[in-house]
Amino acid sequence: MNKKTILITGVAGLLGSRLADWIIEHKSEEYNIIGIDDLSGGYKENIHPDVKFWQMDLVNHPIENVFEAHKIDYVYHFAAYAAEGLSPFIRSYNYDNNLKATARLVNECIKHDVKRLVFTSTMAVYGHGEGGIFHEDMRRNPIDPYGIAKMACERDIEVANEQHGLDYCIIRPHNVYGAKQNIWDKYRNVLGIWMYYLLNDQPITIFGDGTQRRAFSYIDDSLEPLFRAHLEPKASKQIINLGGIEDYSILHCAEVLQKVAGKGEIVHLEKRHEVHTAVPTWQKSVDILGFEYKTSLEEGLMRMWDWAQLQPMRDRFIWENYEIEKGIYSFWKNKK
Ligand SMILES: NC(=O)c1ccc[n+]([C@@H]2O[C@H](COP(=O)([O-])OP(=O)(O)OC[C@H]3O[C@@H](n4cnc5c(N)ncnc54)[C@H](O)[C@@H]3O)[C@@H](O)[C@H]2O)c1
Repeated sequence: MNKKTILITGVAGLLGSRLADWIIEHKSEEYNIIGIDDLSGGYKENIHPDVKFWQMDLVNHPIENVFEAHKIDYVYHFAAYAAEGLSPFIRSYNYDNNLKATARLVNECIKHDVKRLVFTSTMAVYGHGEGGIFHEDMRRNPIDPYGIAKMACERDIEVANEQHGLDYCIIRPHNVYGAKQNIWDKYRNVLGIWMYYLLNDQPITIFGDGTQRRAFSYIDDSLEPLFRAHLEPKASKQIINLGGIEDYSILHCAEVLQKVAGKGEIVHLEKRHEVHTAVPTWQKSVDILGFEYKTSLEEGLMRMWDWAQLQPMRDRFIWENYEIEKGIYSFWKNKK
């Protein structure tokens, strides 16, 4: 059988490495996997040995070499620096890494007749949504540079379709967590940050009063739907929310993790500029991608905590020089 070739950007990160693992485990007779990552936010140890890996920065390196070396059929574009709350303080880095990188990749997809580009956008494009509910048909209205960059990427991809015929599926994942997530980054992924604290005998921190509502998605539940996104005819030219079936207050999530880990004092920090409630609709992901909600928050946290305790003690990622410090929160000014 003639194998298809899939390129995954961000292959050392959570979604990229885990999707590569899933495809290699379930579909290796049908697909070869090529991966790009600059290892700025993911780890080489996450990458399956069967992935043909190119260590490259999508913003500055000659990614055309990858497209010239391989006949790429499908592209999953996961590479990004997804530190939403930090993005107002690293604006220009945010736009380079999220928007410019995507533009360069879209150029290659058009030039090399890629059959479909699957792009992971974000719930941040909704801003406050309507009463905290996010439906795919709503107007994009982000409230921070990260969401603005993703919104521009989405629109750029839609226009690449209209003008150049590049097929796409845009996925908006919701707070994905699980094994192979970066838990050493001070600025992103609340559950990973909390696990880092627990591993280092520090308290679980909450911005503000903890009444903010979020839904979380265990990575294993998202993998088959992500795989279907490149293949499913009905997913063509669609925007689809993925995951986040049950929403909770952040305080409740902290309490669930406390129970799972059997430790951790909860402390409240100063409030951040963020949406209060973020709850996506999910029927479209069920109808088109066959999404099934299988893993409860408690079960998922138990599995991730088991994994986290086996991880090496890595250095924490802390931004050296913020682009601006005006208005930055006290907990990020302190570089520890
Ligand atoms: N995890 C979530 O909850 C979530 C939610 C919504 C959207 N997303 C989006 O899904 C995608 C994947 O998220 P993730 O959780 O796997 O993130 P991640 O940080 O684990 O993985 C991203 C990977 O991209 C790489 N990368 C970053 N900039 C790069 C560059 N310029 N060139 C090459 N590689 C680069 C990093 O090294 C990292 O390995 C991102 O685009 C993110 O915005 C994630």
